[in-house]
Amino acid sequence: MRFDRIIKGGNVVTPAGTFTGDVGIAGGKIAALGTDLDAANGAQVIDAAGHHVLPGVLDVHVHLELPFCGTVSADDYRTGTRAAARGGVTTVIDFAIPYAGESLGQAADNWLRKAEGKALVDYTFHICITRWQEHRDQIAGMVQRGFTTFKEFMIYESEGWQSDDRALFGTLEAMREHGTMLLVHAESARVLDELIARHHTPEQMARYGARLHPMTRPNFVEAEAIARVVRWCEATGGQLYIVHMSTAEGADIVAAAQARGVPVLAETCAQYLVLDDSVFEGTDGHLFACCPQVKKPRDVERLWQGLRRGEVSVVSTDTCTFSRAQKATWNGDWTKIPMGLPGLETLLPLVYTHGVRAGRLTLEEMCLKLSTNPARIMGLAPRKGAIQVGADADLAIIHPTRTHTVDPAAMETNADWSPYLGWELAGFARTTLSRGEVIVDDYRVVGREGRGQWLPRRTAGLRPASDPDPFVPQGRLRQADVPFEGDSSVLPEARATGVR
Ligand code: URP
Ligand code: ZN
Ligand code: ZN
Repeated sequence: MRFDRIIKGGNVVTPAGTFTGDVGIAGGKIAALGTDLDAANGAQVIDAAGHHVLPGVLDVHVHLELPFCGTVSADDYRTGTRAAARGGVTTVIDFAIPYAGESLGQAADNWLRKAEGKALVDYTFHICITRWQEHRDQIAGMVQRGFTTFKEFMIYESEGWQSDDRALFGTLEAMREHGTMLLVHAESARVLDELIARHHTPEQMARYGARLHPMTRPNFVEAEAIARVVRWCEATGGQLYIVHMSTAEGADIVAAAQARGVPVLAETCAQYLVLDDSVFEGTDGHLFACCPQVKKPRDVERLWQGLRRGEVSVVSTDTCTFSRAQKATWNGDWTKIPMGLPGLETLLPLVYTHGVRAGRLTLEEMCLKLSTNPARIMGLAPRKGAIQVGADADLAIIHPTRTHTVDPAAMETNADWSPYLGWELAGFARTTLSRGEVIVDDYRVVGREGRGQWLPRRTAGLRPASDPDPFVPQGRLRQADVPFEGDSSVLPEARATGVR
């Protein structure tokens, strides 16, 4: 067999097991897995000895160049996808949000224009339904165009994005009809408004500063909203995916619903796994404001547990970068802080260092949560998300122990600060390949801007459109973590090792 490139001698993580050997690439696809693949006929050899060879990461929750909180987020498709590549992320999914009077199709067109000519890695969008009555009849057309995931926000009235229960219920019915999936930002809008109003006084702001952000968002704000939308999911049978879940209570609700056979899945984000609300204590506390905010140490531990048990299927970033200058516009009023954190460049390093190296996840579990599950759930498998023959050759090659110190000055993101400043992290990509092309070499971005491709999709979620009666409980098989039936016979000495 003739290869364009061979990745030689790495510790290769595949759905069928982990083995030491080679990945052969031809025409941008993974063409063979084995040992001693033949490098004749001019195949380029990339030495991966002593390294892990992982499926490229899919960050399925990013916001690039997002108009939000009175400004525009600071990473666009150029800097955002360069940051992605350096962090081993080879696919991003952003959110196309219609603004005043716009249709879902116009929102998608706007976001396609943002990405065109700039994206270094492949991309697609979740389509945000912000005005249900107006947008409901446009869903079928968007599915035809290749968009199979939709999004609703239970908060953000002032941005014009908020959906009420009628919209959530109706959209979930539509998801069931089309075999598509609804992503939901779950926080309880009216209670949140009330708690903010109670504290929004000059005295309180002078006294508590940025600490009012966590003080006005107790865990029940997220938990109540998750419970409510899970109820609509159960009633309609439409597939639901809770984005950026940050609380222990949320994980409990999702686990219990999955055990009843409710078609709900959940993601968390790296920041909820490595930070807690003590970050708001410092003078730079306001920089850490994101929505929902990072919670308590007990929530952190419960989310790691949820990843291991399966009720948390995906780790993403919710990248929404704001510079120090943008954050500074808060002027002591926490309700005016642009909410969001940079994240694409540090997703894999954080989960690898604080998950795998810390003994909380195996290497294989990490790949499931960062690559394989996101691809399956978002309708991008088998093209993306796993090292297997026929898939796109999207790979991240990382050194098991070599660390880099987080320093925004040396990073690709436009952020001039980092929530992880000074942290020593292993897991930055030594080499990243996208569709067989080297886009990061020796930790530096070498790929051409604009080479990233839009990814059309036909399905989403784990339930086919033809699924039977949603009211029949179907047990925990709803979870994404049902292992792939990979063909281990093609792998030499494949191990389902649990390497840490
Ligand atoms: O703080 C955040 N997460 N900003 C982006 C908007 C959202 O809610 O995802
Ligand atoms: Zn959100
Ligand atoms: Zn978001």
